[in-house]
This record gives sequence, structure tokens and C-alpha cells, in this order.
Amino acid sequence: MDGSDTTPVAAQSAPFEARALRTALGSFVTGVTVVTAQDRFGKPHGLTANSFNTVSLDPPLVLWSQSRQASSYHVFRESEVFAVSILAEHQIDISNNFASHKEDKFEGVSVDRTFCSLPVIADSSAWLYCRMVSCVDGGDHAIYIGEILKIAHNERPPLIFGGGRYLQARPHYATRGAGAAAASDGVLVESLHH
Ligand SMILES: Cc1cc2nc3c(=O)[nH]c(=O)nc-3n(C[C@H](O)[C@H](O)[C@H](O)COP(=O)(O)O)c2cc1C
Repeated sequence: MDGSDTTPVAAQSAPFEARALRTALGSFVTGVTVVTAQDRFGKPHGLTANSFNTVSLDPPLVLWSQSRQASSYHVFRESEVFAVSILAEHQIDISNNFASHKEDKFEGVSVDRTFCSLPVIADSSAWLYCRMVSCVDGGDHAIYIGEILKIAHNERPPLIFGGGRYLQARPHYATRGAGAAAASDGVLVESLHH
């Protein structure tokens, strides 16, 4: 222990108040993605999702979860492929757009369709094209696991979400400077290999 105060501001046992649960979970900071697929008529569907995470490097697997209340739930549940656009920090409007209930979320949005004609959001930080390998019920959500078939990325810094708001990623003060950067690179490489 470093002597800092670890007394909780608030503590609850289950059942939790919805707000307390959201506040505690909001301490886990994430990136922001837009997950997309097409229905059987070729119409694109997409929603903002921060439940995205990596699962495995070999084979390359990722997961995300979708509320069963989402209007696009049946599209993803029946889809054999999906794409993940990892949003860049200038794409807050895109995130809000795909978190909305607009009839056509793709109207006015710049989209690329370079792989399997899956729509992805232009100017994002990275793109993953996935084959659906598993779908599991998880409470009020469905958990989708996809195998990555193709990747693309650029140098745009990612958009971050935590504590219920959008954030920007910046290097930790302890890793600024040449020596610290080298040390932290070592930690990063290790953590990628668990
Ligand atoms: C930052 C952020 C992250 C979100 N993450 C998820 C998520 O992981 N899963 C989910 O089902 N909804 C998530 N949502 C909510 C959906 O984007 C939202 O309910 C959307 O309208 C669902 O689209 P649909 O009803 O057109 O399918 C998130 C919203 C925001 C703003």
C-alpha cells in the first residue's frame, strides 16, 4: 500500500442502484467503436459500442456486446460478418449519431466499403473486419465473438470514453521522457503477451 486513501465513497451490495452500478463501471475507461453489418437486403446498420474488447491474438478474436433492446439486434444476431470502426478523437459527432435512434444513421456519413462490401466509418483510427464465430446470451445483452479477417489502421489518436463522457488519450506523466518511454514500451509488449 502506498498510504493513499482507499476508503470507498459509496459501497453497496447487490441489488445495486442502477446509477451506482453505472458509476462504478464507468471507472473502466474504453475506446469507442461503431460496429456495422448489412441486413439481407444490403441495407447498412450500425451502432456505437464501447463494450468492444480483445479476446485472443492467436487466433485473432474480439468481442462486443449488444443490448437485446437495440433495433439492430436481429441484424447482428443473424449476420455472418461484422466490421468494427475504432473511432478517432475528432469523431464525437459520429459516436453520437450511431448511438441515436435516427431512421438512417448513414445519411451524410462518409463510409468505405472495401471488404465484403461491409460499411466502415471513414477517417477512423482503425478498422477490423470480422467473421462471427460465436454468439452467447449475457443477461440483457448478446455477446458476439468475431475472428478478425482483415485489419487497417492509421495514425489518428483514438476517442476515449469513461465516467459517462468523452475523453482524449494522453501519455501518462510517468512515461514522458525518453527513459520512461523505453521502460513503458517494455511493459506494453509484455502485457500484450499476458
Ligand atoms: C459511448 C457509447 C457506448 C455504447 N456502447 C454500447 C454497447 O457496447 N452495446 C450496446 O448495445 N449499446 C451501446 N451504446 C448504445 C447504443 O449505441 C444505442 O442504444 C444505439 O441507439 C443502438 O442502436 P440501434 O437501436 O439502432 O440498434 C453505447 C452508446 C454510447 C454513446
